[in-house]
Amino acid sequence: MDKMTELQQNPTVRKIVSKLPLPIKLPTLVRRNAETDALRPLLGRRVLLTLAGAESAPIVRSLSDLGAGFILVGPESHVHGAADIARSAGRPTALASGTDAAAVTQALQASDPVDALILEVNAFGGPKQLFQLLQPNLQKLAKHCRVLLVSRLSKKPSVEEEANAEAVIGFVKSFAREVGTRAITANAIEIHHGCKPEAIASALSFFASDRARYVTSQRVKLTATESEVGGLSLQGEHAVVTGGARGIGAAIAQVLARQGAAITIVDLPNARDAGSEVAAKIVKGGGKAHFLPADVTNAAEISEMLKHASALLGEATVLVNNAGITRDKTFAKMAVEKWNQVIEVNYEAAVKTTEAFLALRGASQRPASVVYLSSVVGIAGNFGQTNYTLSKAAVIGHVRALARELKNKGVRVNAIAPGFIDTVLTREVPLLNREMGKQLITLLQAGEPEDIAEIVAFFASRAAAAVSGETLRVDGGMFIGA
Ligand SMILES: NC(=O)c1ccc[n+]([C@@H]2O[C@H](COP(=O)([O-])OP(=O)(O)OC[C@H]3O[C@@H](n4cnc5c(N)ncnc54)[C@H](O)[C@@H]3O)[C@@H](O)[C@H]2O)c1
Repeated sequence: MDKMTELQQNPTVRKIVSKLPLPIKLPTLVRRNAETDALRPLLGRRVLLTLAGAESAPIVRSLSDLGAGFILVGPESHVHGAADIARSAGRPTALASGTDAAAVTQALQASDPVDALILEVNAFGGPKQLFQLLQPNLQKLAKHCRVLLVSRLSKKPSVEEEANAEAVIGFVKSFAREVGTRAITANAIEIHHGCKPEAIASALSFFASDRARYVTSQRVKLTATESEVGGLSLQGEHAVVTGGARGIGAAIAQVLARQGAAITIVDLPNARDAGSEVAAKIVKGGGKAHFLPADVTNAAEISEMLKHASALLGEATVLVNNAGITRDKTFAKMAVEKWNQVIEVNYEAAVKTTEAFLALRGASQRPASVVYLSSVVGIAGNFGQTNYTLSKAAVIGHVRALARELKNKGVRVNAIAPGFIDTVLTREVPLLNREMGKQLITLLQAGEPEDIAEIVAFFASRAAAAVSGETLRVDGGMFIGA
């Protein structure tokens, strides 16, 4: 956490700042409990879950597996069966029958504040009903609550279905800003036709947890894929993380290892010491990891490195294309070397690394996942970063198209667009600019490398079986871009 965010947690500072005649909002620090059980991140959390579809049973099962307790609201025919599942898993459960705002309000008012609210919008009256569903209950959302508004789209969505799904996104984008001061996040979960019930369940469970703490204001699309559905564990996987010696890459390596994966950290030869240190930390914690030097822009080196890594730690099943650079200059003053270098590392090398990963995989039947690091500026643009934004936007298009190509081959492909993340590089931003920048983030604080790493770990896992071809902003809800 940066010094100013830390200072802003001090009660005296908060009192003084709140009295200043300035439009400054202070953040509630997002909850990053290192001690949280990574495979049961909902342990001790209270989830209000509205039930509508055939997925009720798997969703309750999946949330129970992660440790949640419940308030279940839905048709009489659904709630009792679902409650039996939760209770047999030993989870505290309350229930209310009904499919309207009154039932939700009644259940919430009878309860302590909830840590997650999963609301099937259309089954509970549609977007216009969000007023009755949420406004009387705002104080029943605990700090750090995860609000997930679920929409479903049929095979050929009707005009009304599409309008309703967009209405929910529009609502979420504004609502998230208003509740963000309490570190509450709000996201729209869009379930597309043919998505497997278990895949819906595992994705909802992840986004209901603190592991998704820095994702807010977003649309998460769940679609039909051929991928095998599973849990959040990465036990038995071998993940290759490029640029893993420091910053976000080092955090990714450590979080993937915490989830059970064996890790190959790849970085430039001059990052050997730092990379070996990250590997040593993982090994000390009981995991498997090693460092291999390679320049991702060198296709032959990458191919050799992947073969070597697989010989040492088994078939690589996860690839994280994280290595990236910036060489900022206005377009008018940009040297061609800087222009080329950024595109070659951030985009072309990532594509080549994926090609080598897929070539080595051959006809393997094991599910695999490739995750790329894009950037919010690849979506929104930024002054002085034409080369960088071109490269990061190219990644987004590449991911969308490649996912289509690999749809039936057991390989999912996704990207993460981080926002303002507290790293060595962003600490160099002048204080005033940093502070002004943070006022333009819904959660009013920079993210930590671990916040990005948690989402990489989700994409890498079989819990994300319904997500492919997507770029998810992990930016605390920055007010820039689409
Ligand atoms: N820090 C942020 O706020 C932020 C925001 C948006 C996107 N990102 C993206 O996230 C990724 C990680 O960013 P970071 O802030 O941790 O960067 P960083 O500079 O701290 O780390 C990048 C790592 O990549 C390695 N690398 C660079 N070129 C390489 C090459 N040719 N071959 C092998 N390794 C190479 C570097 O040695 C370094 O260890 C990057 O792709 C970046 O563009 C970062």
